[in-house]
Formats: sequence, C-alpha cells, structure tokens
Amino acid sequence: MTPDLMEQGAKRVEHYQSRLAAKAGHTESGGRSAGFSRLAVPGEVDITHGRILYLEDVSVSFDGFKAINKLSLDIAPGELRCIIGPNGAGKTTLMDIITGKTRPDEGRVFFGSTIDLLRYKESEIAQMGIGRKFQKPTVFEQLSVFENLELALKTNKSVTASMLFKLDSRQSDRLADVLHTIHLANSVSRQAGYLSHGQKQWLEIGMLLMQDPKLLLLDEPVAGMTDEETERTAELFLSLKGKHSLMVVEHDMSFINTISDIVTVLCDGAVLAQGSLAQVQADERVIEVYLGR
Ligand SMILES: Nc1ncnc2c1ncn2[C@@H]1O[C@H](COP(=O)(O)OP(=O)(O)OP(=O)(O)O)[C@@H](O)[C@H]1O
Ligand SMILES: [Mg+2]
Repeated sequence: MTPDLMEQGAKRVEHYQSRLAAKAGHTESGGRSAGFSRLAVPGEVDITHGRILYLEDVSVSFDGFKAINKLSLDIAPGELRCIIGPNGAGKTTLMDIITGKTRPDEGRVFFGSTIDLLRYKESEIAQMGIGRKFQKPTVFEQLSVFENLELALKTNKSVTASMLFKLDSRQSDRLADVLHTIHLANSVSRQAGYLSHGQKQWLEIGMLLMQDPKLLLLDEPVAGMTDEETERTAELFLSLKGKHSLMVVEHDMSFINTISDIVTVLCDGAVLAQGSLAQVQADERVIEVYLGR
C-alpha cells in the first residue's frame, strides 16, 4: 500500500473510532440502531409463502456417483437451520448448489417463492443476498479489521470507483453495528493477520454481514476454534437469528445443541431425519449412520 493510501486509511479509522465511541452511548433499543436501513438488493425475495429457501428433489452426480439424491429441504425466514451428517453426506455440495457453484442434474431450487436460483450465476446469487462462509477464513491478512469490512462493500466496483469509495453515514453505522456484533469493536485498526483463528472467522462473517445477506450459509464455522471462541460464536449466531436466515453445517454437537431449533440430518445426499437435536439423536437410523459405519 502507498503511504498516501495508508494515511487515508488511518484517517478513516480515526473518524470511525469517534463514531464508535458515540455509538457506545446508545442503548440497544435506541432509535438509531433500530433505524439501520438495509442495503438495496436487486430483485425482492418473496417470502409470503413462509419460505426463504426451497429445494425439491434435487440430485447431482459426479462421475456416476450420486452426491445429492432427490434432496428436498426448506427453510423459513429468520430460521437458524443446522445441518449435520457424516463425512461425505453431501452437506458442502448442498451449499455449492444453493450458491450456484454446482449445477444439479435435476430438481428445483428457489430463493423465496419466485426466484429460481438455477437460472443465475454464482456472482448473481451472492448479489441477491445469499452469503457463504467457507471453512477456512479468507480475510485480507495485510489489511486492518476496518479495511476488511470496508472492502466488503466495494465488491463489484471498478478499480477507480473503489479508490474513490467513501463510506456514507448509513454504511458507517452498519460497520459500527457489525463490529459490535462480531466482538471486534476494540480491534478496529488491528491488522487481520494478527487476529486469532476465531477472530478471523468472525471478521469474515462480519464481511458477509456488511452486505446484509438475507440468507447466510456457514460451513463448519467453529472448526479449529477454542472452546471460548466456540461459545462466543454460538452467541453471535443466536443474535443473527431472526434478522437473517442461517444454514449452519457443523460436526460439533455441543455447538449444535446450543444454537439449534430444527436439525436436518443428511446422509447419502438425502434427508435422513429432521427435528430437534434430541429427536434426531434418538432416531435409530441416525444412530446407525453415526455409529454403525
Ligand atoms: N466436485 C466433485 N467431484 C467429485 N466428487 C465430489 C465433488 N464434490 C463432492 N464430491 C463427492 O460428493 C460427496 C459429498 O461430498 P461433500 O463434500 O458434499 O460432503 P460433506 O457432507 O460436506 O462431508 P464433510 O463432512 O466431510 O465435509 C463426497 O463423496 C465427495 O467426495
Ligand atoms: Mg463438507
């Protein structure tokens, strides 16, 4: 980075920290936080039928192997759905299909009741408000926490537009809100490379939140985290529930136990069982796939 850009960055952080300090005086129920407006996204998502995501009879094969096999699943707006299942069950492939990375051979995938996701490219699906977090944190290590979050708003801008880009007050407020949500308000000017693994994961989630996604897909978010980081991540997800719809894939059952309402068990590319964690854990077929192999 040039000294010029670094100076600009430092000024923005300074300006930003004063906003954060001002914000700290506001109560949770304060009109200011309640007044955060949502970023305009192209194409309204119709949730009048009570579903933000709807998959029906979806199948995909890789070299003749059915990784997803007539999978049907739906998620309600604001729901935090947990997906569990043994290795190779098709959990990541399911996320690949929703985000347009993998095209299914057959089936229907709808975002709300009107948007047929199979008609759109990966980048268009992201633009519509479906954010995805891969397992490995992919933050920009050389940049500060602030710059990483700021950068999340610059996607799809030209280089010149990016250089001229300045946060407006609504975006600044959003950034402050996100920093609090991801527990990094005290690390705003810290270089991302120096954050712990858990903090990097939170920062990446924050980058997704900057785009105000309607649906967030999180693949093994607590893998490699300390127990304390895992607990804080559970709190974070519970705070996101209701404001966003979430699909969380995890193997950590105590984490799932803390955050889950409905758990879907995938096996051999299809839904094997669904219900509360206690219900699915008592299901003979689920016990068989976890213990019998
Ligand atoms: N692009 C691909 N080409 C070939 N096979 C694939 C591809 N993607 C996934 N598979 C296979 O599909 C199956 C499902 O894989 P997937 O990664 O979705 O499982 P998973 O449930 O996410 O497992 P894990 O818990 O280990 O992450 C596996 O057998 C995998 O090898
Ligand atoms: Mg996986």
